[in-house]
Amino acid sequence: MTNSNVLIFLSLFFFFTSFASSSSYNATHKCSPQQALDLLLFKQKMSSINNSNEYLDSKCGWLGSRYHPIMMNWNKNTDCCKWDGVTCNHYTCDIIGIDLSCGMLQGTIHPNTTLFHLPRLQTLNLAYNDFTASQIPHEFGRSSNSLTHLDLSECWFTGEVSVEIFFLPKLIFLDLSSNDGLQIQPNVFNNLLQNFTHLRELSMVGVDIGWVLPTYLNISSSLQSLDLSSTGLQGKLPNNIFNLQYLEKLHLSDNIEITGPFPKVNTSYNIPLKSLDLSIANLSGEIPESLGHLKSLNYLALSSCSLVGSLPKTLVNLMHLTTLDLSFNKLNGTLPSLLFTLPLLENVFLYDNMFSGGLPLELFSCRSLKILSLWGNKFDGNINKGSNPLSSIQLANLTYLDLSNNNFTGLWDLNILLSGLPNLETLSLSYSGLIVTNNNSFSHVNPELRYLYLASCNLTVFPESLRAMKNLQRLDLSYNNIQGRIPDWAQEIGGNRLLFLDLSNNFITGLPKFRWDGLNFLYLESNQIQGPFPPSICNMRNLEVLDISNNSFSGVIPQCLGNISVSIQNLNVKSNQIQGPFPLSICNMSLLSSLELSNNSFDGVLPECLGNISSSISMVDIGNNNFHGIIPNVYEECGQLQGLILNGNRLQGEIPSSLAKCQSLMALDLGNNQLNGTFPRWLGNLPELQVLVLKSNRLHGPIETPSTVKNAFPSMKVLVLSHNYFVGLLPRKYLQNFIAMKNTEKDSTKPKYLNMGGGGGGGGGSGDLDFPKISVDYIIVDFSNNIFEGAIHGVIGSLTSLIVLDLSNNMLTGPIPSDLGNLSQIESLDLSSNQLTGEIPGRVADLTFLEFLNLSQNHLVGRIPSGSQFNTFEASSFGGNLELCGLPLPKKCEHPQETETQLEVDGDGESGFTWRVVMMGYGCGTLLGLVMGYVMLSTGRPMWFNAIADVGERMIRTRRRYVYIGK
Ligand SMILES: *[C@@H]1O[C@H](CO)[C@@H](O)[C@H](O)[C@H]1NC(C)=O
Ligand SMILES: *[C@@H]1O[C@H](CO)[C@@H](O)[C@H](O)[C@H]1NC(C)=O
Ligand SMILES: *[C@@H]1O[C@H](CO)[C@@H](O)[C@H](O)[C@H]1NC(C)=O
Ligand SMILES: *[C@@H]1O[C@H](CO)[C@@H](O)[C@H](O)[C@H]1NC(C)=O
Repeated sequence: MTNSNVLIFLSLFFFFTSFASSSSYNATHKCSPQQALDLLLFKQKMSSINNSNEYLDSKCGWLGSRYHPIMMNWNKNTDCCKWDGVTCNHYTCDIIGIDLSCGMLQGTIHPNTTLFHLPRLQTLNLAYNDFTASQIPHEFGRSSNSLTHLDLSECWFTGEVSVEIFFLPKLIFLDLSSNDGLQIQPNVFNNLLQNFTHLRELSMVGVDIGWVLPTYLNISSSLQSLDLSSTGLQGKLPNNIFNLQYLEKLHLSDNIEITGPFPKVNTSYNIPLKSLDLSIANLSGEIPESLGHLKSLNYLALSSCSLVGSLPKTLVNLMHLTTLDLSFNKLNGTLPSLLFTLPLLENVFLYDNMFSGGLPLELFSCRSLKILSLWGNKFDGNINKGSNPLSSIQLANLTYLDLSNNNFTGLWDLNILLSGLPNLETLSLSYSGLIVTNNNSFSHVNPELRYLYLASCNLTVFPESLRAMKNLQRLDLSYNNIQGRIPDWAQEIGGNRLLFLDLSNNFITGLPKFRWDGLNFLYLESNQIQGPFPPSICNMRNLEVLDISNNSFSGVIPQCLGNISVSIQNLNVKSNQIQGPFPLSICNMSLLSSLELSNNSFDGVLPECLGNISSSISMVDIGNNNFHGIIPNVYEECGQLQGLILNGNRLQGEIPSSLAKCQSLMALDLGNNQLNGTFPRWLGNLPELQVLVLKSNRLHGPIETPSTVKNAFPSMKVLVLSHNYFVGLLPRKYLQNFIAMKNTEKDSTKPKYLNMGGGGGGGGGSGDLDFPKISVDYIIVDFSNNIFEGAIHGVIGSLTSLIVLDLSNNMLTGPIPSDLGNLSQIESLDLSSNQLTGEIPGRVADLTFLEFLNLSQNHLVGRIPSGSQFNTFEASSFGGNLELCGLPLPKKCEHPQETETQLEVDGDGESGFTWRVVMMGYGCGTLLGLVMGYVMLSTGRPMWFNAIADVGERMIRTRRRYVYIGK
């Protein structure tokens, strides 16, 4: 038998068997040939696809288990009433229902599709098929006025929902959700809500409505369920929105243009609303007390609504509440203790708010509770004291507990806590303020515990409780005080299931042999681990992120690192003592996105293959090693590369012109090498390039602007060319074009960084990737220590956002242009050791933020102008100009100014340059020699801030405080 014969045989077999079992049906009448033909014509237009979108959990079952090619048994030899997905009326045998959901159909539905020729069709379900680019057919309204249920969700329909939909007068259920290309006009939408008086369920998630909800909804409407999430709804919610007599479900989430306030709830009758989701809207304001009148609510979600104020007291009247989600708001005050006496309460999401106070005792005996997430609040108080010792916690149903990022106090013993939470799957106490202890017994076993986050919990030992956790998948112990070697039994944690391990920022000195071959993320950075690169890492064939930076690993990178070349995305071994050549296996890492080998003792040449390394790479930092030879050419795509740092090696040759292909490049640091050749003007076309550091090389020649380029270096913010052999005039055309240096707003509250290398891959807990961050607060032009000649163009004065300008140690002539007085943000100006002539323009003396000035060793003449800021500089700022006179120089001017008076010495000890400047580098001299943190110690008051400047000699004082943000 051929396959199709088998099918027919089987179908017939089923036909007769099912026929036999339903003898009460009309035995003489089968589905009408016309209706069968209509369906077969529809089938003809469709093809079957093999895999559809798999969602974890959808209408099509867990992982799409319900997908099946539904029209397989549709053929003209069998009764169409027996076809999969077809339902007929028992008596008339008219087709009344078609359910092709998850049927793996693909094709276009024509406007005149025969599917809608079925005169008695009541239910049509086409959900989860692929009708890409089809419109919802007009026809069906005319032909199928018996239709009561229509489900077209997730069908890839596009175009407008037409008025014809109203010719379905009996419609009870309409689901058009998840057709992202679908639109509905405001008038059609309004009519839909007002005229469809039979409609009970309406769902249009993701359909583009982009309009306000009509101010009057039909009060007598029979609507029971309305889901208009992600539809672009706008404006205020109608006041009567809760007054629909039958409405049980109202979901309007993810419509950020819905504005507040939260509508007042009318109290005159019982409101049947059970499920309310207004998350991700701009409600703002407080939650009204009248919310307590929604007495039937069991699901309340108001996440991300910009809500303020405290929880309404009436919240505790919602006796049926099972889920409460008020996360991502600005709610404050304490939690009402009665909340946790609600008998059905299961899921509580109050994270990312400003709640304070202690946790109510009732919480710890709320037996129904399954999920409690309170991270990111200001809860304080000692939970484990007085009448409520930790040991009384009995939450047998709790699976998820997150108290991280709060201000709790007190000591929690991990064993005692876990013994009261027998079904816990996730525990996060990271940064909660709690001190976690461990009495080093592991008597208690939480078999379900899979995620454990204990970052910054003051742990001093590696907790022995972990020993019993055979199912652990994620473990974060970073930022604790764990000392010494990790015990060998640690290998057993999680069995082979551990995926994420963060032990960074402790005082760990040694590791066990790793047996976690399934690990995806391994963070060991900033410990005191010695010894060779652990070869057992090579067995972790799924490793995506490896960070062992800031340790004392030594030896060479083993060949076996190539074992993880398929999966690895972020590799960071910087700041160790690793030697040997560039590990060639790195060139095979096709998913690599960041590579940091800086601050080691690698040597040899950079391999050619580095130029071809990976199309996904965005960050390469191999600075401060001993590499020599030339910089490899970029051979093919380097479209993702954002940062390339080769600073501090012994690289020679020219800057490869192929770097011009790297259209995403934001920072290029080739400083402190032995490069020669000329200025890389081919980089001028890179639209994103903000930082170019070429200092301390052997580059030479004039800096020419190619005549073809109109707007070179449009994003340039930091240009450091110091200590080279550049000659000729200052590059006027370039300077004119640095538009990013003009009128750039400086955010005075937070330092800004270039964030290169993409986001963190760590996910929950800690584990954000430690990419070098480059400060772009400081807009810098540094041409010092070259052989530039000619005049300083006034055009520099148009770079109004400059913070640092250094033209020192050149052969510049002519006067200081008074246009420099336009540099209203400048904090450091160095024109020393040139041949500048003329007087110091008075406008320069008025630069209010100027904290460092050096005009010494020139041929300036005349009186030093007095200005608020100028008066604070010492004589050394002006020395070596023989014709200069007036304070602070000892030389008196011949014609004293009337206003000249003796300067008082500043009383607070902050004047003058008594500051000791300590060059910190970034995480101990790491950051590329490009960004340096300076510690300024002044009269016992340390002040941290980030700056970019030339090697160590530069002093920048700043009046504004910057907080140094480490990792
Ligand atoms: C079976 O179908 C025939 C033909 O349509 C009809 O006349 C008859 O009434 C039906 N029998 C029953 C029991 O409904
Ligand atoms: C539907 O219309 C298309 C073209 O618009 C035509 O080719 C096709 O034959 C029509 N089908 C039916 C069943 O009318
Ligand atoms: C809906 O009702 C309004 C008035 O109630 C009427 O003007 C409009 O024509 C109706 N729309 C449809 C499509 O029936
Ligand atoms: C809570 O926030 C409201 C509004 O933002 C403010 O008026 C009130 O003082 C705050 N209450 C507490 C306890 O912080």
